[in-house]
Amino acid sequence: MSNMRRPLIAGNWKMNGLADESLRQVQDLGARVGKFDDPACDILICPPATLLREMARVAVGSSVKMGGQNCHAEPSGAHTGDISAEMLKDSGARYCIVGHSERRADHGETNAIVRAKAAATLRAGLVAIICVGETLEEREADKTLDVITEQVKNSLPAGATATNVVVAYEPVWAIGTGKTPTTLDVKAVHRHIREELSRMINDADRVRLLYGGSVKGSNAAELMAVENVDGALVGGASLTAEDFWPIVKTCI
Ligand code: PGA
Repeated sequence: MSNMRRPLIAGNWKMNGLADESLRQVQDLGARVGKFDDPACDILICPPATLLREMARVAVGSSVKMGGQNCHAEPSGAHTGDISAEMLKDSGARYCIVGHSERRADHGETNAIVRAKAAATLRAGLVAIICVGETLEEREADKTLDVITEQVKNSLPAGATATNVVVAYEPVWAIGTGKTPTTLDVKAVHRHIREELSRMINDADRVRLLYGGSVKGSNAAELMAVENVDGALVGGASLTAEDFWPIVKTCI
């Protein structure tokens, strides 16, 4: 973790959470965070869009911020079932995840689509968390760095800077599996991402790079200590304050 970059610990709740329990969890997290006057990291929850406004309201004043998990590329229009980045912002979001591997796989999101969504996120004044990562097959074929290069090059929108973009490295095979890459592998990929970014944007050394995929309390400190890891994108272990807190604590 570098002093130059403020860490970000982000929870991705995916399609989980009903109102009562979710509000309790965010209140609990807010109370834990509230004991720190000036947290040394940014703390984010990306709940389902149905809970965004209410959770943002409960989290006001607690340093816990809210984000969306996906957005449409257009600001409004005839797109039944979709939600725009402007709508997320209007509901209290500060960030939006784009290009999560579950969206790339389940909804056929290509790098071009991810880039358009990232551009929409910036247009709305939100920070885009752009996800990249190789599948197991790609890793076994020794293609990890090539896949990451393609994804970074083609998913980053015009106008990306260290203030409006975060990149999350999430090996697909590590998501929800309990498996994580070795710290050496994480280090190599993060270094590679930073090198790619430095060819694309001026303030590449200030862009925050998150690691995601089976991050939990027991492995967070080790992962956060890796060079060029500036935080985490956490799925399963972000659903309760009790599980999320030990991860937040590694940076706060
Ligand atoms: P996980 O998910 O922490 O449950 O592995 C991470 C993610 O998909 O962002």
